[in-house]
Amino acid sequence: MQRDKDLLVGFDKSDDAGVYKISGETAVVATLDFFPPIVDDPFLFGQIAAANALSDVYAMGGAPRFALNIVCFPKELGMEVLTEIIRGAVDRLDEAGAVLAGGHSIEDREIKFGLSVTGFVHPEKVITNAGARPGDVLVLTKPLGTGIITSALKKGNIRLEDAEIAFTSMKALNRAAAEAMIETGARACTDITGYGLMGHAMEMAKASNVNLVIASKDVPFFPKVLELVKSKGNRPRTLIENMEFMSPDIQFKHGMAEAVQMAVFDPQTSGGLLISIPEGKYDTLSNNLTQRRVKHHVIGSVVRAEEGWRIRVE
Ligand code: CO
Ligand code: CO
Ligand code: CO
Repeated sequence: MQRDKDLLVGFDKSDDAGVYKISGETAVVATLDFFPPIVDDPFLFGQIAAANALSDVYAMGGAPRFALNIVCFPKELGMEVLTEIIRGAVDRLDEAGAVLAGGHSIEDREIKFGLSVTGFVHPEKVITNAGARPGDVLVLTKPLGTGIITSALKKGNIRLEDAEIAFTSMKALNRAAAEAMIETGARACTDITGYGLMGHAMEMAKASNVNLVIASKDVPFFPKVLELVKSKGNRPRTLIENMEFMSPDIQFKHGMAEAVQMAVFDPQTSGGLLISIPEGKYDTLSNNLTQRRVKHHVIGSVVRAEEGWRIRVE
């Protein structure tokens, strides 16, 4: 592959978005994400898909500016459904201060929808997942369990009103969290999506060449998640794949509840930000998050790299 010095964050880094410098003042942050419906309501699905796609720009410290739709759609469903999905996406783009600039659709048997989002960031203020340092604390801004809840919902194992809290979280932008992080000055950040907490934390650990210690009792889960994950039918296939893939690098404290050991691998849609920040700056970050009404939890800390493991869950 050809190299370009202006490509600040590219394919070789497993980061949230590509970053390309266009001047001393400005770099473009570009990302794309799309997936099949995880909820029945088309407007809500559009909101969640957009919040999820925007999130990668926020995780890099960028501000979203415009977006393009990516649409796979079966004609026989009727255009009203697609119109509602797009209305939902535009609702979230409005809140992000970004505009819809166009898109592309193809006929397909199953709906898939998402967005390619472009934003801007100052080239020296890019927040990657590679900056975590020993002595940092790890802050998480949304509870976990959206994968388990949506798969339990499909099986009829949770009532719609009990899943509502996860929908509200998935459609919530990471904008306020990102603004608080930028104002405070974070060392590293990533958003929690398909690889789950463990997967994205692992990427941060490897990119930063550090190890992470997670305090399981401080990791927030949505209500019922630790109960639901006990039954096999509620576990998303990706949860098991994540677990099998990452287990060799993860140590769980002896005797830890199996439900927790599984749920930390749950794939998230539009999950929160995982922020690594020097311990001394945590109070400022916490105040800045609280002022913006962003709930958050310190879930662990960063330690020096050590052979044989990357993440220890205590
Ligand atoms: Co991401
Ligand atoms: Co992404
Ligand atoms: Co086209």
